[in-house]
Amino acid sequence: MRTVPPRSLLDVDDLRPGELVGVLDRAVAFRDALPARDLLAGIPVLNLFFEASTRTATSFTLAEQRVGADVITFAPGASSLGKGETIADTALTLHGIGVRVIVVRHYESGFARRLADAFEGHVVNAGDGTHAHPTQALLDLMTLRQEFGRFDGLHVAIVGDILHSRVARSNIVGMRALGIEVTLVGPPTLLPPDFGAGELRIERDLDAVLPHVDAVMMLRIQGERIASGLLPALDDYTQRYQLNRSRLRALRDAAVILHPGPYNRGVELTDDVLDDPRSRYVAQVHNGVFVRMAVLDLLVNGAPVVAV
Ligand code: NCD
Repeated sequence: MRTVPPRSLLDVDDLRPGELVGVLDRAVAFRDALPARDLLAGIPVLNLFFEASTRTATSFTLAEQRVGADVITFAPGASSLGKGETIADTALTLHGIGVRVIVVRHYESGFARRLADAFEGHVVNAGDGTHAHPTQALLDLMTLRQEFGRFDGLHVAIVGDILHSRVARSNIVGMRALGIEVTLVGPPTLLPPDFGAGELRIERDLDAVLPHVDAVMMLRIQGERIASGLLPALDDYTQRYQLNRSRLRALRDAAVILHPGPYNRGVELTDDVLDDPRSRYVAQVHNGVFVRMAVLDLLVNGAPVVAV
């Protein structure tokens, strides 16, 4: 009989703030020295990606290998979900086969939760529709802490297609929990005035925001999630919201530039941005592996005993 359901990570607020920092500490420890023993030895972990992924899928796979899991990667295009099998039946089947952790990416918001409700193991949300992408937010937070050594009082601008961005949503949850001041910047079509129900600071003028932030997170326009008629006119968008050589001058020397990738050169940013010493894109993807190791370890093994 199932008493305590296995823990899942569906969004950042599944972690209490103390735990969130604990996961980041553990990720840093893994980055400094890989774990000496296989923390998930013999645990079958299934990667179930219904949507394209380069960074997230690769980095989860590497993380799983580094904690010694039995890694199964399966292209669900060919799965029985497409033949009418329900999520519940698929979950039952996968658990029966022996899968204990499912890392899932899906184009529907809420899919990860539905799977977690049906599955007798752990689910890690690797991105569901426009809803959440918690491990991306964790790796962004890890990168910010690596840079500034703190969260409290930092000011971060998230710029672009906020409305369709699960990365923005999860980051907003995590950043607010840790005392980071967040300003959202974008056009009304991609950042409606009522976004966040009046609780979030919304700005339309990127130039007014750039000189005041510690970090700027640039987002891709999620073309695949927007009806083509509603896509912004590119010239107008780049003129107002592109980070480029002239806007880089407005950014503080000590500020950093984040991007979850994939980036579209010539749209939300230019080549100058990626070449700029303040760009932390490579640190972000690097940190992603360690954050995912720490998440898998927390879900399967629980919080580490803190030595005193
Ligand atoms: C993002 C995603 O898939 O949500 N990419 C990522 O996981 N690093 C952002 C995007 O697709 O623009």
